Amino acid sequence: MDNYESILDSVISLTKRRGFIFQGSELYGGINGFWDYGPLGSLLKERIKRFWYRKVVMEREDVVLLDSSLVMHPDVWKASGHTDNFYDIMVECKNCKKRFKSDTLEGDRCPECQGELSAGRQFDLMFKTHVGALEEGNNIAYLRPETAQAIFIHFKNVLNSSRQKIPFGIAQMGKSFRNEITPRNFIFRSREFEQMELEFFVEPGADEEWYNFWIQQRYDWYREIGIKEEYLRLREHRKDELAHYATGCTDIEYYFPFGWKELEGIAKRTDFDLKKHSEFSGKDQSYFDEAKREKYIPYVVETSAGVERTLLTVLTSAYREETVKDEKRVILGLSPNIAPIQTAFLPLSKQLNENTYKIYADIRNIFESQFDDKGSIGRRYRRQDEIGTPLCITYDFDSLNDHSVTIRHRDTMEQKRVSVSSLKEYIEKELKSF
Ligand code: GAP
Repeated sequence: MDNYESILDSVISLTKRRGFIFQGSELYGGINGFWDYGPLGSLLKERIKRFWYRKVVMEREDVVLLDSSLVMHPDVWKASGHTDNFYDIMVECKNCKKRFKSDTLEGDRCPECQGELSAGRQFDLMFKTHVGALEEGNNIAYLRPETAQAIFIHFKNVLNSSRQKIPFGIAQMGKSFRNEITPRNFIFRSREFEQMELEFFVEPGADEEWYNFWIQQRYDWYREIGIKEEYLRLREHRKDELAHYATGCTDIEYYFPFGWKELEGIAKRTDFDLKKHSEFSGKDQSYFDEAKREKYIPYVVETSAGVERTLLTVLTSAYREETVKDEKRVILGLSPNIAPIQTAFLPLSKQLNENTYKIYADIRNIFESQFDDKGSIGRRYRRQDEIGTPLCITYDFDSLNDHSVTIRHRDTMEQKRVSVSSLKEYIEKELKSF
């Protein structure tokens, strides 16, 4: 982990240079805690979400998807406890005026200037808005601070419209908003971000087993997107850290350049949410177990991950520099499971563009691909290394006769000649070898 702390600066600079991440509203001086994702960043986010969807929903018969609106009835947040409990305690330095979340501070003086800190004040994390034409007290609404609550309030709708029986899960990806006191560490803590959440409904008493199951599943997912295992750990919450709804919670943590931090939480939420929504809506949220001929409110195991945190994790984990023939080579060693571009097509000469383009047009329907004919072949390889493209495919003058192309492997830089007729199968196999 030599020079690991400085990797963050290199990653920030690469993400701007290569169009992954821009400061939100940069043209107008920026807006703190909001980020925009450029062509490669939005593609990387998309690939992370798709891989989550694949593993959590598509490959399972017991999980279905939901896509709910960002604004819900304000009573949802009363029932969930967010209206009363979703705040941070903020302190301000009397000297430098900087603000801090009190639970991130170690001593009782300002970490920046050692000044005296003010007494703590409650700071509401919910983003308020108004629905309709008039800004009146009775039309206040909130942008959702998590995607989870929509899953709970549609539990019965999903149950009654799908053929699912307990145990089963409802998954949702999408934006969440929190008016964080101190957005910081690049995109790590933002005010607008995306979550990937699963609420898995089980029989009361079966939650311990499913909790352990999902911890393992989610941990393996991070390994499958290429996170080095020595940078990952599981951390169980102490009793005094647990959220008001949880009887157990384990965080998957990653060793960021600024220390060990939460990537995802897996929690035992018991029947807290469905019970609260039964109470507040006056509509029974219990489940009738036909096999057992009994009625109960299901228990829930939740897995809750952040898209941007995952993105920052894969970038810091994948970034490396090498020296090749006295030249610096920057590589994003991204897993092909999430790399924004999987194959790049590089004609050796502009005269070969048309032939190369034909192959590219065929392959890009299957693999995320780019066509690049600008600059020397060496520069084009470096450009693709820097954005994490696993395979570069070069079409040269010999290709005209032998109908073969050269495939270069990002990590080993090894080159192999492959016939165009078997290219798809070859790429598929080769991408699995990373
Ligand atoms: N439904 C449970 C829930 O929302 P959380 O621990 O508050 O739990 C879950 O959030 C995940 O959402 C976090 O592990 C993190 O990945 C992501 N997340 C939360 N707040 C965030 C923020 N301000 N910026 C970026 N990601 C955030």
